[in-house]
Amino acid sequence: MNLLSPEWTAILYLIAAVCFILALKGLGSPKSARRGNLIGAFGALLAMVVVFLSMKLDNLLWILIVIAVGTIIAVPASRAVKMTQMPQLVALFNGVGGGAAGLVALLELAHSDNIAAFIAVAFTVLVGGVAFSGSVVTFLKLQELMPTRPIVLPAHAALIILVLLVGLAAAAVIILDDAVLATWGLEGMKDAAAIVGLASGLVLGVLLVLPVGGADVPIVISLLNAGTGLAVAASGLVLGNTLLLVAGTLVGASGSILTHEMAKAMGRSVTGILFGAFKGGSTAGSTAVSDRPVKSGSPDDVAILLGYAQRVIVVPGYGLAVAQAQHTMAELAETLEGKGIEVVFGIHPVAGRMPGHMNVLLAEANVSYDVLQEMDEVNPKFKTTDVVLVVGANDVVNPAAKSSPGSPIYGMPILEVSSAKQVIFLKRSMRPGFAGIENELLFEPTTTLLFGDAKESLTKVLGAVKAL
Ligand code: TAP
Repeated sequence: MNLLSPEWTAILYLIAAVCFILALKGLGSPKSARRGNLIGAFGALLAMVVVFLSMKLDNLLWILIVIAVGTIIAVPASRAVKMTQMPQLVALFNGVGGGAAGLVALLELAHSDNIAAFIAVAFTVLVGGVAFSGSVVTFLKLQELMPTRPIVLPAHAALIILVLLVGLAAAAVIILDDAVLATWGLEGMKDAAAIVGLASGLVLGVLLVLPVGGADVPIVISLLNAGTGLAVAASGLVLGNTLLLVAGTLVGASGSILTHEMAKAMGRSVTGILFGAFKGGSTAGSTAVSDRPVKSGSPDDVAILLGYAQRVIVVPGYGLAVAQAQHTMAELAETLEGKGIEVVFGIHPVAGRMPGHMNVLLAEANVSYDVLQEMDEVNPKFKTTDVVLVVGANDVVNPAAKSSPGSPIYGMPILEVSSAKQVIFLKRSMRPGFAGIENELLFEPTTTLLFGDAKESLTKVLGAVKAL
């Protein structure tokens, strides 16, 4: 259908691009994130409708069938996914975007006739391939369908260099003029080179992500997300589509910023994440369980510590999400506040398994944003705090991040809970956290452990606090 003039098409694309920018702005704060998401989704829908109305599409039936199949898969998958599995879902959706950009570039090569378009095709097939296969491996790792530990193949680094050289050679064939290619007898080989480029990208994606350890996988997802954005932006160049160019650039830029911020919050460098395993320094710790003695308490003991405190800082972590204990936690905080006790939540930037995980969880339980304090704000307060209640968190309070060079979390800024008078840990066992390392804080005389599922423990503590 050609119902829209080029002018109207451009205006509607501009509106969609503004929606994407407003969506990113909205996603910057938990208060406006839901609205931001809806605005972004509206922008994407508008962009899709404009494509149908502004050009004559071949294979319309096939396009509609593919959209229907995608919708049938994606809607139930998105509804069924647990909050803790969100990173792998994002990885999969993102990877499909990168793969689609690669395939579009492959098909568009036949219509490309200038050097800028050839460069864009070469870039898109390579990076799109990396983003697709790399994302599939991150999905398999996080879903534990393959080992999450770093996997290093024999001559792994040499293989990466070899495949990269093949990819770059294919890119050169795509870009160079047929007259130049004729010197090497390679004229008319652009199509074959594009297929080789895409295949090298796919192999490279697998080789790059295999050596990344479990704790670092979400950062790689964000990096691949940035790659997909750039591939989509390049495919916008190939197709002469400004909206793809803008949307891809936004995804590329925001993915790069998120990668940088997450790596900083975990005290790691991006090169260390990708290539750390080659130096023998594994990014995954052990899962050995310590049998050293600890001080454990009952729900009543914990209730007494909390009920007679003046200031309590709650440190939520991944276990709060697993136990789905956010509502009980919110009720306990309210009950303590009702008794005149000051309660704040100390939020570590990488607590949980995805950026903003704790904020989303606590917002769901209507915990006021005013009592959520970021690491820099809350850290000076631990010294004057009577009780810290650590609910299903471990790595983000582990002093090994400061004291043990060589530990997988060394260098990660932590919540300084050890300077509080008393620390209570709610966890099920002595198993370590995500990074797989022991936490010395569990053995301190000022620490009390309440073993059990966080929701069950909090329910019992809540009952005991109410009875005080
Ligand atoms: P972790 O260090 O993973 O510790 C979680 C704790 O929760 C464990 O001690 C576990 O002990 C406990 N737990 C699990 N299920 C529980 C349940 N049902 N009830 C009670 N306790 C439960 O979590 P954290 O402190 O939030 O740290 C996050 C880690 O993930 C960091 O290493 C971080 O680098 C990594 N990471 C985060 C992100 C983002 S962006 N958030 C991305 C990638 C990696 P038990 O098994 O004994 O119960």
